[in-house]
Amino acid sequence: MTAVTTPDQQLASTPDDRSADRAPLAPDVAVPDLRTELPGPIARQIIARDQAVTSPSLTRVYPLVVRRATGCVIEDVDGNRFLDANAGIAVCATGHAHPAVTAAIHAQVDDVLHYCSSDFYLPAYADLCERLAALAPMPDAAVFLSNSGTEAVEAALKLARHHTGRPNVIAFLGAFHGRSLGSLSLTASKVRQRAGFGITVPGSFHAPYFDPHDDRALTGAAYIEQVLFAQLTHPSDVAAIFVEPIQGEGGYIVPPAGWLADLRALCDEHGILLVIDEVQSGIGRTGTMWACQHDGVEPDIMCIGKGLASGLPLAGILARRSVMDWEPGGHGSTFGGNPVACAAALATIDLVESELAANAITVGDHLRAGLEAQRADQPVLGQVRGRGLMIGLDLPDHDAAGAMERACFERGLLVLTCGERSIRLAPPLVMTVAQADIALAIITDALADIASGARP
Ligand SMILES: Cc1ncc(COP(=O)(O)O)c(C=O)c1O
Repeated sequence: MTAVTTPDQQLASTPDDRSADRAPLAPDVAVPDLRTELPGPIARQIIARDQAVTSPSLTRVYPLVVRRATGCVIEDVDGNRFLDANAGIAVCATGHAHPAVTAAIHAQVDDVLHYCSSDFYLPAYADLCERLAALAPMPDAAVFLSNSGTEAVEAALKLARHHTGRPNVIAFLGAFHGRSLGSLSLTASKVRQRAGFGITVPGSFHAPYFDPHDDRALTGAAYIEQVLFAQLTHPSDVAAIFVEPIQGEGGYIVPPAGWLADLRALCDEHGILLVIDEVQSGIGRTGTMWACQHDGVEPDIMCIGKGLASGLPLAGILARRSVMDWEPGGHGSTFGGNPVACAAALATIDLVESELAANAITVGDHLRAGLEAQRADQPVLGQVRGRGLMIGLDLPDHDAAGAMERACFERGLLVLTCGERSIRLAPPLVMTVAQADIALAIITDALADIASGARP
């Protein structure tokens, strides 16, 4: 059994002590706590070894080498402690190593690690699908589980074509739906994600997403009707419209009331399926289980992933039973719905329902109010957008957003850029108001750096 050190003992330890310490981190440990230059000596070694053997397609945004984590705290291999405001891109929903989640994982590991859910029955698979069907934002849902968001989108794409018998699909500029070839056909976020990969799935069209800087621009349902349906594809050839209820990678953009409902109405008019991609916005992040519930819009198919199992790989689709009409063998997955991931997801959903969705609203409102208050004094801080703990803030340009990301890292706050010039805050849903205040103080300092032109 490992010895448990108190937070005081941990804080008193030197970086060298920390890197040798095998005990779990205490959840109330103080952050930020930076003890070496960044990256530190051990991190530098690991980064050099990693870069020698890993794919150059990986975009490591800053030199963070994670060793252990708890709640909203991440400790690197040199013993530096950071406040996590990105949750591994909105994945570690219940915080790092929530005891209820790790207990559920341990219990399942002791029973059975894996058996293929596409070919056999497993209680955890049935339990989770039952739970998800009950939580679905549409009536009478059926569930298919996969491993990653991109696989969920692939499943939705296949199901939409299969059910409608139609070839074409529509998605939005700025969208991110994944990087496998089918989902990449819908992704229209950064051109480097497509460069050199040739022809994606034919019949994929794009319309502008709501523009937060020009609310009179022709976007969404109006654009699809007036431009795409008039000039590029007849509606009767369109199987589905894929949409993120809050555009994630594209800049944490929240469309106004009615924008999503107009898409629903357009789909209903033409027998098109509405596929809502909740991979980033789902699982309580915006204060409701699914972000589309803020708009009262019911999808025909919904993609889920990321935060679903608090960090274990799990994703999937929920679809109206009348839509999920593919035949046995039409779709499947060796690992999708692995029982350990399902157990983690059930514990995650319990936590989100009982307390974390509400906490996302409390702490998210606090963060947004704190950011709004800074706008008066800080001209480099532009629009602040978001719902719950899915918050985007605009900087003047792309370079300023990158510099801000780095300035936060160097002060011990982990954030990520999104869109052309935004920073996203997507912390674990367990973030406290006190931790949000620490994040706000660091953001204030980092913004002052950006304003003074002192770019890291
Ligand atoms: C909205 C959305 N859909 C799909 C994906 C793809 O998920 P994954 O990276 O798990 O394949 C992402 C990933 O960021 C996403 O944000």
